[in-house]
Amino acid sequence: MKLQLRDFTMVYDDVGQGSPLLFIHGYPLGRALWQPQIEALSQVARVIVPDLRGFGDSPAVAGKASMETYAADCAALLDALEIHEPVTLCGLSMGGYIAFAFWRAHAARVGQLILAATRALPDSAEQQENRLKAAALAEKEGAEAIARAMLPKMLSPKTQAEHPEIIAQTKQIMLNASVTGIVSALLGMRERPDSTPTLATITVPTLIVRGADDAFASAEEVAAMQAAIPGAQLAIIAGAGHLPNLEQPAVFNQAIKQFIGL
Ligand code: MLT
Repeated sequence: MKLQLRDFTMVYDDVGQGSPLLFIHGYPLGRALWQPQIEALSQVARVIVPDLRGFGDSPAVAGKASMETYAADCAALLDALEIHEPVTLCGLSMGGYIAFAFWRAHAARVGQLILAATRALPDSAEQQENRLKAAALAEKEGAEAIARAMLPKMLSPKTQAEHPEIIAQTKQIMLNASVTGIVSALLGMRERPDSTPTLATITVPTLIVRGADDAFASAEEVAAMQAAIPGAQLAIIAGAGHLPNLEQPAVFNQAIKQFIGL
């Protein structure tokens, strides 16, 4: 499905009926990341899954895409779908950075929050430098070079040893990102604000999910995030790295169902 929103046409899935669940993908991914959730959770809820601008099937818009821009796109999608009730918002990694921005701008639209494989801290100076290097690499060599650099860090040793099909699927999702979309996201993530002060303001039920082998969001950072969000629950998923929803879909889906009471 597609809708003209703001300054681009967003491609999205809207499957199932009942309480709305909005899933926001990470970088450099796309809505195909959420296929196992679309299949399982649309049986019990209304699952809404956008391709962010420049990823998957949504066209890119040149220039930096801030986390606030992506959050505004997601709010515009809910408006266009006439969803005015609070949603369960689930963001993975960059999707989590966007979920923090969404919370800051539209808290009343969030009924429950799921923060997967994400972190509250901003980029360090070194990470900011690496964003510029990655942007230059993407412009020179394309999405393929970004996929080559990212893929080994994304998945757990177990997934890498036992699930060639998940490796291939993740790579394919990355190859579907446009260079403009990749560069826009890198520039946006590079300048994202520190979300640490946001954590204590979160007043809705929150589930944090971390793959036990996640190389991006450390156990210490995630524990600090849990301590800072009042009443937040934490699910650690064994055998998963940065993409627990894809690597251990049954466990991830069960954690979500239990959290939202479906
Ligand atoms: C993601 O998965 O969204 C990215 O790895 C996040 C990041 O690079 O900070």
